[in-house]
Amino acid sequence: MKIERMAAVVTGGGSGIGRGMARELAARGVSVAVADIELDRAREVADELAATGVNSIAVECDVTSREALEALAERAFAELGQVRLLCNNAGVGTMGAVAELPEDNARWVFDVNVFGVLNGCAAFVPRFKRQGGPAHVVNTGSEHSLGIPFAGMGIYTASKHAVLALSDVMRRELVDDGIGVSILCPGLVATDIWNAGRNRQQAYGGAEQSPPEFAELFTEGMDPDEVGRLVVAAVERDDFFILSHPEVRAIVEQRYDEMLAAFDAC
Ligand SMILES: NC(=O)c1ccc[n+]([C@@H]2O[C@H](COP(=O)([O-])OP(=O)(O)OC[C@H]3O[C@@H](n4cnc5c(N)ncnc54)[C@H](O)[C@@H]3O)[C@@H](O)[C@H]2O)c1
Repeated sequence: MKIERMAAVVTGGGSGIGRGMARELAARGVSVAVADIELDRAREVADELAATGVNSIAVECDVTSREALEALAERAFAELGQVRLLCNNAGVGTMGAVAELPEDNARWVFDVNVFGVLNGCAAFVPRFKRQGGPAHVVNTGSEHSLGIPFAGMGIYTASKHAVLALSDVMRRELVDDGIGVSILCPGLVATDIWNAGRNRQQAYGGAEQSPPEFAELFTEGMDPDEVGRLVVAAVERDDFFILSHPEVRAIVEQRYDEMLAAFDAC
């Protein structure tokens, strides 16, 4: 799909990987709706993009709400024209052993990471079909979609496995409509996800600031703007897997080697 002169929507576009995607899209002449639960940061990004000469709007949007995604789609199609790319990127994480996680925290992660993707698809895919012509959905998974990088992130890992499952099935469901689907599975990226609890809604226990030293864990991560460049190139090639970090290969090999060995053992 040639992306020039079309319009795109990026959820979680106010920060990190979403901002990286939005910047690369704008650099390629794409109009972008920057959607985020943090409106101030979405505005900053939309203003930065608009200053480069593309059409860009900031939309406050909590992806756990299907109505919010419907409203986002209404605005994006009305104000930007032919939206052909949806990036379901908003995501959060939390740490904790599987058997010890507070229920509201677990539901928060699933509602944002999994239902956020479902809500985005429910709002945009029918519009893509009615519009006709090529369109594409990018869902942000993680290395956690592909294997188990480490212990202590069970609910996040489960949510990202779910994103892989949904994406993989959806690409088969949408192939005849000319709608492509990709899943981005990055390793470490230098973003603000270490402090994801800043956006935890009241319904899930309210906001929570992570200790500042958590930020250091992410400083070695990949530049999110580089991830944005990889994503846009992959959409143009219609790749399903977008694998930004070569070191993730070892996680995949370990997982499949274990499964294949289990066949032999049985
Ligand atoms: N940073 C990494 O190392 C890494 C690795 C793999 C996958 N990811 C995934 O990348 C995606 C983006 O995260 P990031 O690392 O850029 O973190 P980030 O915190 O910098 O950005 C996430 C954005 O999502 C927004 N957001 C949070 N809850 C929301 C909600 N309910 N509705 C709408 N927006 C919401 C935040 O305001 C923020 O702008 C997530 O899906 C995350 O799981 C990140």
